Amino acid sequence: MQSNEKSFHYNSLKINLHYEVYEPSEDTFLLLDSIIVENDQNILEIGAGTGIISLVCAQKGAQVICSDVNPYAIETINKNIKENQNQLKGSIEVRTGDLFEIVEEKETFDIIIFNPPYLPTTKEEKKGISEWYAKSFDGGPMGLTVTIKFLKQLKSYLKKDGKAFFIYSSLSKKEQLEQTLKSLSLKYTIIKQLRCDDEILSIYQISF
Ligand SMILES: C[S@@+](CC[C@H](N)C(=O)[O-])C[C@H]1O[C@@H](n2cnc3c(N)ncnc32)[C@H](O)[C@@H]1O
Repeated sequence: MQSNEKSFHYNSLKINLHYEVYEPSEDTFLLLDSIIVENDQNILEIGAGTGIISLVCAQKGAQVICSDVNPYAIETINKNIKENQNQLKGSIEVRTGDLFEIVEEKETFDIIIFNPPYLPTTKEEKKGISEWYAKSFDGGPMGLTVTIKFLKQLKSYLKKDGKAFFIYSSLSKKEQLEQTLKSLSLKYTIIKQLRCDDEILSIYQISF
């Protein structure tokens, strides 16, 4: 039995971890360093994991809706909200489900954030790893399965002057990503990059 008691501090927030939930890593911190949040903005974070990104946004005064498919992530996010409630100038609402199915009709956002499962993964590589934990990294055979599903639905939920941010790993096929962005007429800029061992992580910013 593994312990659920691990935690760390970030920006004075206490972030509790869970062994079935993605532990904030270089990709998480790259997003945290890149996204500028203003008071009262409406933010959607898909795949919130421990909730660290959503908590920082709410700490800065944003109205946040965050989600995950992993029930252990939802449990961890709720625990982290409760423990840090007194530091949140804004608000966070937590929803459970797949991508945009948790968004109500006509809800739109100033900022949408997704650190998706982005690694190309084979069945072999998932052997012995719990189904819920695998959701944090398994991007399918090309690494882009979940990212492409996300991009196909994104436009309906972003305000006209809104921005979306997501992570891309150089271990998956760049041509496939850029072809998808082109076919969906999504304008993009790579706003930050970080080399981590054998891959380069990039933050894509999407706007209309
Ligand atoms: C790489 S982790 C990122 C976690 C957290 N945002 C962070 O940056 O530390 C990806 C997260 O997306 C969630 N996820 C995977 N597929 C999803 C989907 N289709 N809809 C919603 N969440 C999903 C996973 O459960 C996991 O928590």
